[in-house]
Amino acid sequence: MKGIILAGGSGTRLYPITEAISKQLMPIYDKPMIFYPLATLMLAGIRDILVITTPNDQPAFKKLLKDGSQFGISISYVVQPSPDGLAQAFILGEEFIGDDSCAMVLGDNIFYGNGFTELLENARDNAIEGYATIFGNQVKDPERFGIMEIDESESGTYVLSVEEKPLKPKSNYAITGLYFYPKGVAEEAKKIKPSKRGELEITTLNDRYLKKNKLRAEILGEGFTWFDTGTFDSELDAANMIRTIEHNKDKVICCPEQIAYYRGWITKEQLQARADLLKKNTYGQYLQKIVDETK
Ligand code: DAU
Repeated sequence: MKGIILAGGSGTRLYPITEAISKQLMPIYDKPMIFYPLATLMLAGIRDILVITTPNDQPAFKKLLKDGSQFGISISYVVQPSPDGLAQAFILGEEFIGDDSCAMVLGDNIFYGNGFTELLENARDNAIEGYATIFGNQVKDPERFGIMEIDESESGTYVLSVEEKPLKPKSNYAITGLYFYPKGVAEEAKKIKPSKRGELEITTLNDRYLKKNKLRAEILGEGFTWFDTGTFDSELDAANMIRTIEHNKDKVICCPEQIAYYRGWITKEQLQARADLLKKNTYGQYLQKIVDETK
């Protein structure tokens, strides 16, 4: 399975902060924002990742993430000339995806919670069986998001409808910025027409799968943390939350190096090299602790 991180967009909602730097490179407490969605794809077991950015920002992303070998993965890059919609990612990534299934995560979405790896594995299995998967999370302001109307029965969660930022939401389950699709997603994306606001909407793509009875949903339960860090407040809230979790647990969460090491994707020497590079702060000291514990 392939993975895409969509990290473009104009970033105007966070001006003046993002006039000179991409939002997805901004810090969320102790690491760049993009490390969180990267960790999400890695937890899903995905090692072949495409990062889509604006043309201007691509050099900075390459400087940070390189070819991915420091995380035991392969990272390639494509630019999105203008922000024409989330579903365009699959058209831009067509060659990269090839004949494979593909997950996409938005570069500003942070996920953390119990049982997440299992949910990701289910979504991966669904994709191999020919089904798309979206993830729902209850919110207090549903008109700001894509929304799924669902029927929760003993045999599972069924999606009844999906709508992009409806004025009168049919539920308060937001569709989070994490999507799994079976092979053929680029062809599906090409069939979409731009919406009234001129974008190739991910919700239109999801609706195509729904109409074919090929859309499944997972609900992120109580205690699960999801942030769409698109405003000043949500960035600070996310940073505070990450800080609190990390201090309470005495660990670094959503840490790509740790995921890679525990999965056997990088050697102890590679982890030591990262620990040496970052040794002046708690992130690097955490990596050193992992090296020392496994001596
Ligand atoms: O975060 C979840 C929500 O993300 C979903 O509930 C919505 O269904 C989905 O449309 C999206 O809504 P947003 O209002 O957050 O979309 P936004 O236009 O802000 O784009 C999300 C991120 O993707 C943002 O960081 C910028 C980036 N982006 C956006 C567009 C339209 C791109 O990289 N390229 C694009 O063409």
